[in-house]
Amino acid sequence: MGFLKTCVLRRNACTAVCFWRRQVVQKPSVRKISTTSPRSTVMPAWVIDKYGSNEVLRFTQNMMIPMIHYPNEVIIKVHAASINPIDVNMRSGYGATALNMKRDPLHIKIKGEEFPLTLGRDVSGVVMECGLDVRYFKPGDEVSHKPKSLTHAQAASLPYVALTAWSAINKIGGLNDKNCTGKRVLILGASGGVGTFAIQVMKAWDAHVTAVCSQDASELVRKLGADDVIDYKSGNMEEQLKYLKPFDFILDSVGGSTETWALNFLKKWSGATYVTLVTPFLLNMDRLGIADGMLQTGVTVGSKTLKHFWQGVHYRWAFFMASGPYLDDIAELVDAGKIQPVIEKTFPFSKVPEAFLKVERGHARGKTVVSVV
Ligand SMILES: NC(=O)c1ccc[n+]([C@@H]2O[C@H](COP(=O)([O-])OP(=O)(O)OC[C@H]3O[C@@H](n4cnc5c(N)ncnc54)[C@H](OP(=O)(O)O)[C@@H]3O)[C@@H](O)[C@H]2O)c1
Repeated sequence: MGFLKTCVLRRNACTAVCFWRRQVVQKPSVRKISTTSPRSTVMPAWVIDKYGSNEVLRFTQNMMIPMIHYPNEVIIKVHAASINPIDVNMRSGYGATALNMKRDPLHIKIKGEEFPLTLGRDVSGVVMECGLDVRYFKPGDEVSHKPKSLTHAQAASLPYVALTAWSAINKIGGLNDKNCTGKRVLILGASGGVGTFAIQVMKAWDAHVTAVCSQDASELVRKLGADDVIDYKSGNMEEQLKYLKPFDFILDSVGGSTETWALNFLKKWSGATYVTLVTPFLLNMDRLGIADGMLQTGVTVGSKTLKHFWQGVHYRWAFFMASGPYLDDIAELVDAGKIQPVIEKTFPFSKVPEAFLKVERGHARGKTVVSVV
């Protein structure tokens, strides 16, 4: 929902993320569900009509403006959006099986009916219209409620990576502002969107952070607060890490072969935890279908968790989690100057395909943002 001029958010819609709070939802009122009357019906947007390489992105002036369907939804005029690796992967069809099931749980639609599809999940903008049950927001609110100190472009760079890092560190890893002092934390993939946020939140909570990144990113991660920096390209990682004290927590946003060695550097039998963000969850469903894919996922994560448990450490997977209250906590840290957005490049709305290519090429140093208004 990022790359269009307005988007609709509702309480349980975790595909579109911004600074907003969950509402208590009452039963939909029968007749009137929104506060405003009908308005202009089309808007510009970038869409895809099939999955594929970057050429599938198509600009249209005639995308229907979303309407409020449930009284707990709001419509937002998008001022800025940011691109995450998952948006690029979804352009190529990644996760389509699971996301189509979410859009259409009863499988009423035939294959391909998700098109034209608008990609993206991070937005910052202004509330245009509210469903009748919405109490926390009103038309004119900057979405929702974004950190006061940030521009829309800066605010749009945060939600998805921030909530993913928060989910991994706090929900899954059990770390918080009260129990982190002196904890030793290793962040793999420290220079990317998730990593640059994770360093800052760990430092805000007083942990000791070792950041793993390429040499050219070391200045950036040090500026964000990393205490130790390891260049993963300068030699064998295991050799470099064995001279450091073991860690209480590892956040892995690289995945792949890191799993084979990283857990050896956790403290044993002390509750130390390795959390990876790179999992085969959606891929399994794409390959095997929903039921077999979930079964395969359960077997994989279960066997790995058990294997490491017997070796004295915790092995976990983490996923992005939508949460209004967490976004409010994050906004407080931002307004207190403890977390700053790290934006590598901002593209105008007309250059969305170039922004996708930039993210697809990798080697991110923070986030790629699209300025819409
Ligand atoms: N599970 C979830 O819900 C969830 C949510 C968000 C993200 N993710 C996943 O988490 C990963 C990171 O996301 P992101 O948004 O931070 O991606 P990103 O912005 O593209 O950042 C990835 C970073 O990792 C660095 N890197 C690559 N190989 C490395 C290695 N071996 N050691 C250390 N650093 C390395 C890259 O820079 P260099 O290549 O220049 O070193 C880049 O800075 C992605 O795979 C994404 O799909 C999962």
